[in-house]
Amino acid sequence: MKIGVFDSGYGGLTILREFLLELPEYDYIYLGDNARTPYGTRSFETVYNYSLQAVKKLFELDCQLIILACNTASAKALRSIQQNDLPKIAPHRRVLGVIRPSVEALDKITNTNSVGILATYGTVSSLSYPIEIKKLYPHITTAQEACPMWVPLVENYEYDKPGADYFVKKNIENLLLKNNNIDTIILACTHYPLLINKINLYKPANIQLISQGSIVAKSLIDYLKRYKEIETKLSKNYKREFLTTETTALFNKKALKFLNICKNFSTKQIFLD
Ligand code: DGL
Repeated sequence: MKIGVFDSGYGGLTILREFLLELPEYDYIYLGDNARTPYGTRSFETVYNYSLQAVKKLFELDCQLIILACNTASAKALRSIQQNDLPKIAPHRRVLGVIRPSVEALDKITNTNSVGILATYGTVSSLSYPIEIKKLYPHITTAQEACPMWVPLVENYEYDKPGADYFVKKNIENLLLKNNNIDTIILACTHYPLLINKINLYKPANIQLISQGSIVAKSLIDYLKRYKEIETKLSKNYKREFLTTETTALFNKKALKFLNICKNFSTKQIFLD
C-alpha cells in the first residue's frame, strides 16, 4: 500500500519533496486538486467536502496513510475526517496533517516565546495554530497574519521577481506590528517556501523561519517508527504517481518548480466527486 499526499494544488509538492529525500523507498501518490485551488479563501464546508473527496479517492487507490499536505485542509478538514469519517470509511487507515508537527517543533526554537504565523485566510481564521500552540505550549504567544496575495504570486511565477516585494514586505511588517517580540515564524502554507528569498530580505535577521517540509518529513519518520502496524503495510518500490484534477500539461509545467528534484514524472488527470 502507498502513502498519499494531498494538497489543494502544487504546494504539497514542497512537502513531498522532503518525503522523497528522507524516505525515498516508499511508494507515493500525490494528488493536487489544481482545478479547484485555491482552498485558502473557501468556506469550512467546501474545504471539508473537497478534502474528504480527495481522501476517499486516495483510499480507493490503495493508500494506507494520507498526509493532508495543505495547511488549509489540515486546519478545516483534518479533525472531522479523523473523528467522524475515518471510523466509518476506513478504520484501519490513517490521515495526518501538517499543523501538529509544525507546532511540536516550536518549543525548541523560540527563545522569546513569541511566534508568528504567516498563512492563508482560511488557516488564519480557523485559529488552528493559536489553539494547537496554546494546547501544547501555554507559555507561547502567537500572532497571525493572512497573506492572501502570496499564493497567487507563487502560482504566477512572481515569487522571485519585483512583483513579490510589496506584499511580502507589507505582510511581514503587519505581523511584527502585532507582536514585535517574535523570534520565530512558521511559514504555514505550502506555497511559501518558494518565496524564501523575498521573505529573508524583509524579515529581521534574528527571526528564524520554520519551513514545514523537513519538519513534516521528520515527523513522518518518527510516526512510521512508532506505528509498525501501519509501516509494515507500506510497499517500498520507489514508485511515484502524480494525479491532478487539472489538465496534465498545465500541472507538469508548474510542478517542476515546486518539485525540483524530479525531472521526469508522469501525471494523470482524475476527477473528484
Ligand atoms: N496549499 C495551501 C496551504 O498550505 C495554500 C493554497 C490554497 O489556498 O489552496 O494552505
